[in-house]
Amino acid sequence: MIVVPGPASHELGRKIAEKLGVEAFPVNHRIFPDGESYIKYEVSVNDEMVILVQTNAPDNDRKLVQLLIMAKAAKDLGAKRVIAVVPYLAYARQDKQFLDGEALAFDIILGLLEQSGIDDIVVVDLHSESVLKELQPSHQMKVHPLSAIAVIAQYLKENGYDGAYSLSPDLGRKDIVSSASSVLGGGFAFFEKIRDLYTGETTMKVKDIDIKGKNAVVFDDIISSGGTMAKAIKGLKDQGAVKVAAACTHPLLTPGAKEKLMDGGAEVIIGTDTIDSPYCQVTVAGMIADYLKKIL
Ligand code: R5P
Repeated sequence: MIVVPGPASHELGRKIAEKLGVEAFPVNHRIFPDGESYIKYEVSVNDEMVILVQTNAPDNDRKLVQLLIMAKAAKDLGAKRVIAVVPYLAYARQDKQFLDGEALAFDIILGLLEQSGIDDIVVVDLHSESVLKELQPSHQMKVHPLSAIAVIAQYLKENGYDGAYSLSPDLGRKDIVSSASSVLGGGFAFFEKIRDLYTGETTMKVKDIDIKGKNAVVFDDIISSGGTMAKAIKGLKDQGAVKVAAACTHPLLTPGAKEKLMDGGAEVIIGTDTIDSPYCQVTVAGMIADYLKKIL
């Protein structure tokens, strides 16, 4: 077995290899002056089981193309099985056709990944696992969805949020807050979020919960602009919550997001190392390595 970290996930790939008790062999990589990526294996992958580690954000398109090149090259060089660990899978949020003329981008990307020779893909906190269940039957490539929420909740339990209330910004994430609540022990609830399909603007209807005098954690898969999370946190603070943590698996935090969260009343922002970010206090390396051991 060979673990190959891609340009986007050197550190995470190294940690996963360490947990698996093997050496990591990062690909040789550079960017040409026109912006294209160059990829070269520095170790023979012939007849090997190859584990690629390459997240897809930030700079999603480039990192996705690098992954496609890595996978196809590994198969062309004789790899017998290619497992791609892609903690943040690009385009997974474009998983429905809401308006006429829209592309089902997520399914297109799954097709490209499959055609590049990937046999298994391990992803963390996908935008919608129920959509995946609908799409999976039309693909040979097996998608393995993991969740980092319990690991994040454990970190928060050990860092001032034991007994805190767990909240999700929408009903679709009910399962994740129920799993967080079993770690934190403070009960769970969710908000209702309505998104305008044309402007992208969201409104949050805060459920009537007894949060006064309690600590709370709002869990989401992604914090991007911070708008969703900031609205949820402000709602909790308005209802009398003492301290509120903003927790997510993929801390994308585009410019201005941190300020939005702080203005909304977040005490702390917690994320994982599925992507490189200043908010990756929690590592997903252990849970990914444990899962890989089961499917190898
Ligand atoms: C949406 O369904 C996701 O679960 C997140 O709530 C959303 O992507 C967060 O985006 P933003 O930080 O831009 O509000």
